[in-house]
Amino acid sequence: MTDDGFEQHFQINHLSHFLLTTLLLPTLKSSAFPESLSKVIITSSRAQIIGNFDFENLNGEKISKKPKPTMLYSNTKLMNVMFANELNRRYNKSNIKSTSMHPGLVHTKIFKAERKFVALGVSTVMKLFGTSVEECARNILFPVLSPDIDEGGKYFDCGVEAKVNPQALDQELTNEFWNVSEKLVNKYYINNDNVENEVNLPEGTEHKVMKNKKGRMKWWKVLKG
Ligand SMILES: *[C@@H]1O[C@H](CO)[C@@H](O)[C@H](O)[C@H]1NC(C)=O
Ligand SMILES: *[C@@H]1O[C@H](CO)[C@@H](O)[C@H](O)[C@H]1NC(C)=O
Repeated sequence: MTDDGFEQHFQINHLSHFLLTTLLLPTLKSSAFPESLSKVIITSSRAQIIGNFDFENLNGEKISKKPKPTMLYSNTKLMNVMFANELNRRYNKSNIKSTSMHPGLVHTKIFKAERKFVALGVSTVMKLFGTSVEECARNILFPVLSPDIDEGGKYFDCGVEAKVNPQALDQELTNEFWNVSEKLVNKYYINNDNVENEVNLPEGTEHKVMKNKKGRMKWWKVLKG
């Protein structure tokens, strides 16, 4: 669990992306035109296909007794595709397009945190079969730069359109998931000037208000007291 009270995969892989993107929506909207779309690319993973979305299991409640990080990971990677599709659908008329993708198994130092022999094993496999950082960056940029895929709502596996988990195509499910996500991060949205009134700050924390250049967007951050 994180300090915010969410399961780590859920917060890091989904809620954080959801919050950042929704905070950016006013800017994305105001800078989008039919000839110059705003594009949001959500990084998912091939693991999305084995994910299983369940409102009762957002924080891994159903698998908490026997931690299964792989399932938690796959489920949140499915959430990435669901979020991208729903964003694309909701803001279709605002010229905001969203797509999700699998960038490749990137050969980075991320596995260094694992136990030494695991890190060595993974590193060797990655060296042999992994995608280079440069190639992965190209796979991430592909849906942004390719004019052929301006309609959004797709999923790319290393630059090639690929099959998605059927749950990501269930519009009622993705719609409700958006609503639920919005509720979960609701306290991080600031309603203009009512900073003090809107937010019940947990004891021992303080707030920090940030503004963009036009002063339109404000949000706060809990700092450890
Ligand atoms: C976006 O809108 C167009 C035109 O109204 C429609 O043809 C298309 O199906 C919509 N796409 C999505 C993803 O809702
Ligand atoms: C999500 O919220 C919107 C706006 O409040 C509402 O119109 C829609 O029916 C909700 N979706 C679901 C699936 O509950």
